[in-house]
Amino acid sequence: MRDGNPAPVTRLTDYRPPAWLVDHTRLDVDLRDGHATVTAELTVRRNPAGDDRPGELVLDGEHLELLSLSVDDRPLGEPDYRLEEGRLTVPGVPEQFTLTSKVRIHPESNTALEGLYRSNGMYCTQCEAEGFRRITFFPDRPDVLSRFTTTIHADRAAYPLLLSNGNPVDSGDEEGGRHFATWDDPFPKPCYLFALVAGDLACLEDSFRTASGRDVALRLYAEHRDLDKLGHAMDSLKRAMAWDEQVFGREYDLDIFQVVAVSHFNMGAMENKGLNIFNTSCVLAHPATTTDAGFERVESVVAHEYFHNWSGNRVTCRDWFQLSLKEGFTVFRDQEFSSDMNSRAVTRVENVDFLVNHQFPEDQGPMAHPVRPSEYQKIDNFYTLTVYEKGSEIVRMQHELLGAEDFRRASDLYFERFDGQAVTCDDFVACMEEVSGLDLSQFKRWYSQAGTPLVTASDRFADGEYQLTLRQETPPTPGQSDKQPLMIPVKLALLDDQGRALPLDDSGATETVVILRDSEQTFRFPVATDRIPTPSLLRGFSAPVSLRYPFKEAQLITLLAHDSDGFCRWDAAQRLYFAALARIIDDGEDAAAQLDRLTPVLEQVIQRAGEDPAEAALLLTLPTETAVGDRHTPLRPQAVHDALSALRAGLGEALAASWWRLVEELAEPEYRADGEAMGKRRLRQVALGYLSAAAGAGRGDRDKLVAQLQGMLDAPTCMTEELGALRALVHNQLPGAEPALAAFAQRWRDEALVMDQWFAVQATVPGADTVARAEGLLAHDAFEWTLPNRVRAVVGTLVNGNPSAFHAPDGSGYAFFARALKKLDGINPQIAARLANGAARLQRLEPALAEQLSAALRELRPAASANLAEVLDRIL
Ligand code: ARG
Ligand code: ZN
Repeated sequence: MRDGNPAPVTRLTDYRPPAWLVDHTRLDVDLRDGHATVTAELTVRRNPAGDDRPGELVLDGEHLELLSLSVDDRPLGEPDYRLEEGRLTVPGVPEQFTLTSKVRIHPESNTALEGLYRSNGMYCTQCEAEGFRRITFFPDRPDVLSRFTTTIHADRAAYPLLLSNGNPVDSGDEEGGRHFATWDDPFPKPCYLFALVAGDLACLEDSFRTASGRDVALRLYAEHRDLDKLGHAMDSLKRAMAWDEQVFGREYDLDIFQVVAVSHFNMGAMENKGLNIFNTSCVLAHPATTTDAGFERVESVVAHEYFHNWSGNRVTCRDWFQLSLKEGFTVFRDQEFSSDMNSRAVTRVENVDFLVNHQFPEDQGPMAHPVRPSEYQKIDNFYTLTVYEKGSEIVRMQHELLGAEDFRRASDLYFERFDGQAVTCDDFVACMEEVSGLDLSQFKRWYSQAGTPLVTASDRFADGEYQLTLRQETPPTPGQSDKQPLMIPVKLALLDDQGRALPLDDSGATETVVILRDSEQTFRFPVATDRIPTPSLLRGFSAPVSLRYPFKEAQLITLLAHDSDGFCRWDAAQRLYFAALARIIDDGEDAAAQLDRLTPVLEQVIQRAGEDPAEAALLLTLPTETAVGDRHTPLRPQAVHDALSALRAGLGEALAASWWRLVEELAEPEYRADGEAMGKRRLRQVALGYLSAAAGAGRGDRDKLVAQLQGMLDAPTCMTEELGALRALVHNQLPGAEPALAAFAQRWRDEALVMDQWFAVQATVPGADTVARAEGLLAHDAFEWTLPNRVRAVVGTLVNGNPSAFHAPDGSGYAFFARALKKLDGINPQIAARLANGAARLQRLEPALAEQLSAALRELRPAASANLAEVLDRIL
């Protein structure tokens, strides 16, 4: 649909219970070359809790060719039913009946990757949020739970494997070399959790014994060539299953759990009941082809989808406004899992970094919306960082307010009370209140109020009493101008001059949580010291707010060196970097003038890096161009780029001896997969990054560095090192960069996920020249518009991760962007709309750039799909 019309608005306040329920759904899917035939037999009855409406059944259906329709075996023809855009209406139905429909669909030409489609010779599905209506006519809404029995027919040689949700109950041969399989899922589920796979796949099989002693068969499927890349996902899955039993008391419920890896996929992965379908990038891992960051991502996404079996599947969402009920909670669960499997402090900083530098901008831009949105045009556009990551922070605050024990009792109550039901965020919070006795009515504004609260702290110290005044204010967001005060837990400590935490009360506790409820409140702490303490604020990032406090440089240095809270140490380092960059960007100071102040600070972190290399890597990493740009208005991308490049090169040169020492000391003769080895590789990459920046600016021992990088490329121990070396050469335009790219492509041309990285490395070379290079990448033989991972690797990374190219002064980046969006929108509107968010900073841009970007976007608008139109209309 490229008609330029936005979809009608759906509003939370318009929610009505479904008029009809579907107790049983019997699907028969016949896969043929060129098309598929889907016969659906629905056992329908009137919902006793539904609105009293006439006997008219309305079903959703898109891109379906209706072949036949009958009610209780009575064939219907028009005008017995009405077929309109997106829906089928059958008037005059009885209170209870069986509706049988037969439709034809075309998986081969489905490039939107919603519903049933093909990917590399296999069939697969993606139904969340509203893809099931592209498979058959159905009440496609999450509060209609049905029991599914699914039969699949296909050619046996080409598709030996036929999978669906639940348990296999029947299979056999059919005429003409075909076969069938029938699956039955005993758990009623909304149709967005339906899945089907047909293909010729390799399987890694294992099993898991649950706490109650049942054995669950675990089967992970991928293309045959990728069988050796499934081990890490299997280990992660087994750890996730054990963790959910221990930490949340949740056991798996079916006898089989299956995961299928698919190359063409719009998102990361999907939690279909008993049959998860994954983007290959979130399940395949091997040290030779996958970076350490990739390994971490696989671990967390495998866990995330597995955890959905309870938080999402057993207890699901009443309507899509409640999306965060399952997504925010499940992100919280996967973050906690990752914290327990890896370093808790490092995981927390990574999660906060992501939230602050990606969700905060969303909350401050044209797409700002509450964690529970109140209206949408296309729900696909609301699978956002706000719903996921801020939603997780809201659950985390409740965990903090209740304490671990009560939180567990409340989550047990939630799972037990609502098992098998479709519920709301209110139902979740009600369990928290019931168990704890807390009144969370003010807290619930976190769900309905958009925007990042700004908390401003100020303090006084007199007569042994430290007074901390906190003020909160949430700036207006689109459609929500008046904001009310939120309930904000602020965890804090007070440090003396030596960085020791002072006792805050008679018990000697050195950490406390104050709850800010009003627009302004003052908290008093008697402390035994004669100098004003340094506040360690928002410890653990106890609330998703932006904190302002006039830290002095010496205080930040104290926090960085001594604070026992990992988030506050990292935050102190970030504040030092942002301050130095502001002096360059806003005050016109020289980058060199910052070195005297920063090098001793970094030197100290490097001295102690042995204690925790992964944390040191985080502390030594400068903010990205995007993060820096977001802190200066108007946004001047080139100025930001120049400042950061100069500072990085300066630090690279000034600390060269220390960086080289790290590069040498952290080298490992052999690959190891454990957390310690990963931490060391990470820090080593940071050191090489600084040295390369210096070399790129013509400083330091360039030949030595290039030899080092070439050595890593010639005999890499793993992809982390190989790709790190390639990126360092290419991004700093060092000698040998182009031949290295060619050799890398030659070596990895058959590994799609590695080639994605090869494309991404080139699309993220800083500087306006990269736009021309990216045009070349789009013309490359291996580039495919129908492969979302590849599109993200080139267009997504340039637009979202390369400001100095995207915002090229001549507007070429915007022209590139607009052409890509136009092309994509005709192929895959979900992906086009998601990429369009790259323009969300339009209103913050310096005027000359803003005018060019908005002109490029306006041109796209008339022919835009409903998905893209919603995003463009918000931005423009
Ligand atoms: N529920 C999936 C998850 O685990 C995301 C699916 C989103 N799909 C979509 N088309 N928007 O987060
Ligand atoms: Zn999810």
